[in-house]
Amino acid sequence: MKPMMTIMTVLMRGFWLAAIAMGLIALSPHQGMIASAVAADLDQGQALARMHCTRCHVVGDMNKYGGIGSTPSFGAIKTMPDWQERFDIFYILPPHPAVVRVEGISEKRPEHLPAFTKQITLTIEELENLLGFINTLPKANFN
Ligand code: HEC
Repeated sequence: MKPMMTIMTVLMRGFWLAAIAMGLIALSPHQGMIASAVAADLDQGQALARMHCTRCHVVGDMNKYGGIGSTPSFGAIKTMPDWQERFDIFYILPPHPAVVRVEGISEKRPEHLPAFTKQITLTIEELENLLGFINTLPKANFN
C-alpha cells in the first residue's frame, strides 16, 4: 500500500505543478498583448485604414477635410471611454456589416444581401495591423 501512495503523491504533485504553471501562463495576458502590439505591422495598418476607412471616416491627419457627412472621425470615436472595444468589433457594428467582412470571423454574405458598395475584406492579420495602427492615432480634442 505504501509504494502505491507514493506514486499517487508524485502524480498529484506533477498535476498541481502543471496546473500552477498553466495558471501562471493564463494570468499573464499582457505578455501576449504586448507581443502582438509589437508584432503589428503599422505600415500595413495605415495603408488599410487609408484604403478602406477614409472612404467614410476622417482618420488622423490623412484626410482632414474628407469623411462622409455625420460619420464620426476616428479621433472623435477615441474620446469615448470604450473606444477600444468599439474598434475591436467595428465590423459587426452598423453600418459596417453591410460592407465589411473579416475572413474566418464574419459569416458569408447571403447572396440576396450584396454589399451596398465595394466590399471590404480583411484577414484576421490585417485586422490586427489595422487595430495596431488605430491605437497610435491621437484622440480628438474638442476643448
Ligand atoms: C461605408 C462607410 C464606412 C466605412 C467604409 C467605414 N465606416 Fe466606420 N462608421 C461608419 C458610420 C456611418 C459610423 C457611425 C455609425 C453610428 O453612428 O451608428 C461608423 C462608426 C464606426 C465606429 C464606431 C462604432 C460605434 O458603434 O460606436 C468604428 C469603431 C468604426 N466606424 C470603424 C471603422 C473602421 C476601422 C473602418 C475601416 C476598416 C470603417 N469604420 C469603415 C461608416 C463607415
